[in-house]
Amino acid sequence: MPTAGLYIHIPFCRIKCMYCDFYSITERDDDIPSFFKALLKEIQLCPIDTSKWKINTIFIGGGTPSLIHPDLIIKLINTLSEKFDISKVVEFTIEANPGEAEMESLKEFHDLGINRLSIGVQSLEPELLNFLTRNHSPSDVITTFENARKAGYNNINCDLIYNIPNQTIDIWKRDLQKVIDLQPDHISCYSLTVEKNTKLFRYVADGAITMPSDDESINYYEWTQSSLSNNNFVQYEISNWKKPNRECMHNIHYWKINPYLSFGPSAHSFDGEKRYSNVRSLDKYIRLIKEGKTPIDFSEDFSEKNFTNELIGFGLRISDGINLNRIPNKFKKSVKKSIEENQIKWGNYFIFEKDRLKLTNKGFAFSDAIAVDLMI
Ligand SMILES: C[S@@+](CC[C@H](N)C(=O)[O-])C[C@H]1O[C@@H](n2cnc3c(N)ncnc32)[C@H](O)[C@@H]1O
Ligand code: SF4
Repeated sequence: MPTAGLYIHIPFCRIKCMYCDFYSITERDDDIPSFFKALLKEIQLCPIDTSKWKINTIFIGGGTPSLIHPDLIIKLINTLSEKFDISKVVEFTIEANPGEAEMESLKEFHDLGINRLSIGVQSLEPELLNFLTRNHSPSDVITTFENARKAGYNNINCDLIYNIPNQTIDIWKRDLQKVIDLQPDHISCYSLTVEKNTKLFRYVADGAITMPSDDESINYYEWTQSSLSNNNFVQYEISNWKKPNRECMHNIHYWKINPYLSFGPSAHSFDGEKRYSNVRSLDKYIRLIKEGKTPIDFSEDFSEKNFTNELIGFGLRISDGINLNRIPNKFKKSVKKSIEENQIKWGNYFIFEKDRLKLTNKGFAFSDAIAVDLMI
């Protein structure tokens, strides 16, 4: 029985951060009730048979779900439990922005069974928060973190961003240490990525902003790896570090190509046979569901070749590596051949055991390039 996850996308935010390409919108709080009506209907009408899955994670992400009133989260959980067997859920995450998660809401979410909080810290340097157009101060981070502990969360993640223009390695060292000192259970460190359709993209294209060089990026990354390892965080994915038993089980579903169903505008799902995704626009999402139509606007069958290449792409991201026994028989030979051909170029960065291929710590910095070379 495969394990599986449920994801809910809440698109509302107070501000649109200049680097963010996730589907999120501002000044639309009046539409929250009609969004929830559509969301609950989408869940109720979901045609996928999940009786053979063990659903063990739920993730409410965004956007900024911590802004949502707990009464609506109760309705959401009730609808999920009427539709799916969520009795085996052991990890239930909600994302929170610093300063945008009231103590009362944090407590109520926890009382509802939400047992993991993911806080978008990003940076603790006022100038960098400003540059990233974040809506919070460093002290909001500390307050939200402390409130979360008081509310009873014993599984807290902090998201951080490095590789920011005008960030120095010393600022990053200081920020990371401050977050380590808070003693979270999990830390995600993401390299600032220039996504199309963001203000950051336009600034970089216009030459108004210059991103750090590749050498600088690798320097940030290697320092992150050694600092977190020295503080007893275990790296289990390119951008993710955990304390014992505190890996994000939900994200592991994505990386191990387990099934997951997602709801809300822009949400992506994988039902074990096909990948599909919803329209991004909130208005279109609400309208389609109101008219009794599907909000899905993209669907793709999952060929054995796709599966093989995803096993390679995602498998190289995680410390467990690729389980070569999962490669479909008809592609086993080509994958082995591809690994052998890449021994000279990348051999120092991967470890090839009998039925497993994994990257070394140094190899993580090159995982995308290695994956492209290995794919068939
Ligand atoms: C979509 S956000 C949602 C969480 C929450 N709204 C927040 O901003 O804190 C999830 C995480 O993705 C990361 N992220 C988003 N855009 C990114 C980018 N362009 N480069 C690197 N990390 C990014 C941030 O660390 C963020 O915490
Ligand atoms: S980074 Fe978070 S708060 Fe900022 S726009 Fe994206 S989802 Fe909203």
